[in-house]
Amino acid sequence: PKQLTVLGIESSCDDTAAAIVRHEVGSAPQILSQVVVGQADLHKDFGGVVPEIAARAHVEKLDYCVQDVMSLAGLSFSDLDAIAVTSGPGLIGGVISGVMCAKGIAVAAGLPLIGVNHLAGHALTPRLTDSLDFPYLMLLVSGGHCQFLIVRSENEFTRLGGTIDDAPGEAFDKIARILALPQPGGPNIEKCALSGDPARFRFPRPLLDRPGCDMSFSGLKTAVLRARDSVVADKGGLTKKDQADLSAGFQQAVTAVLIEKTRRALTVYLSENPSVPAFAVAGGVSANMEIRAALETVSAENGARFIAPPLALCTDNAAMIAWTGLERFRAGHEDDMTLAARPRWPL
Ligand code: KG4
Ligand code: ZN
Repeated sequence: PKQLTVLGIESSCDDTAAAIVRHEVGSAPQILSQVVVGQADLHKDFGGVVPEIAARAHVEKLDYCVQDVMSLAGLSFSDLDAIAVTSGPGLIGGVISGVMCAKGIAVAAGLPLIGVNHLAGHALTPRLTDSLDFPYLMLLVSGGHCQFLIVRSENEFTRLGGTIDDAPGEAFDKIARILALPQPGGPNIEKCALSGDPARFRFPRPLLDRPGCDMSFSGLKTAVLRARDSVVADKGGLTKKDQADLSAGFQQAVTAVLIEKTRRALTVYLSENPSVPAFAVAGGVSANMEIRAALETVSAENGARFIAPPLALCTDNAAMIAWTGLERFRAGHEDDMTLAARPRWPL
């Protein structure tokens, strides 16, 4: 069929989300409706996402999210062509909640069911927002992920490298804790770094001396911790200026690593002679203006079009799942009632 309308469900981490995406061949895809219900409040006292609490909250919220997007779009289940759901990777209790909800609707409404890899969802988002052609280079950079992918089709991804330990967002969050700044760390460190001197502390740029696109951020975290401890030992505490200088130095180190690795990933990608070279980013860390501007510059230097989807679609959402399901369905993929929830599922 020329026009497809797909409901998407996402519940693999700490956001419960549903969305409806419609696409007619030859025109831009449309997000008819979407809702995201975050759980940050439920987990804030625990220093991380608690899987059992997350799963229960997903079970409570999913039905309402689905009901809301259906009524916001003014549709009933019979108007849909398929239902797509994140079937991994992620916290298994949450993934199971979403998959069971989707199976129930699929059976009741007689709709095709499509399991979607959450990372594929992030990786295909630039095609939802910018009608980008394959193949393009992608940097996924969030609290949980950090990897370079060449996206060749809705089903083929080549991983060029990624973090061998922490994701950068996780590092931003931990450094915020080390510096007694509020969570989420990313935006607060970025704000604090604005008034800082990045040259006061010289932090390491891990793995830059090694070939390839792999990255490491956990040593950087240790280096910031040591620098903080020596300032505290010297002066008995951290001033605002110390916080700002440490933040600026850390952010500059992360940016330097991402930039150099992006340059290498672009070289590999461009050696394949893509007809319209493009470099896209997604994930919460791509909201960082210093990082984003630096990525845009490397991209331009290498003659690639730079694409950064709106932030609400860069972080976890269900429109990317509906869209990826739609692309997979159009390409002939379909799952059945044996669709499994997978905690681990590399692309
Ligand atoms: O993509 P996302 O919402 O969730 C997943 O991790 O899957 O990303 C959240 C992460 C957090 O670690 C947060 O600190 C980081 O993205 N983040 C930022 C900024 N805004 C959010 N990191 C650096 N600078 C920012 N402005
Ligand atoms: Zn995600």
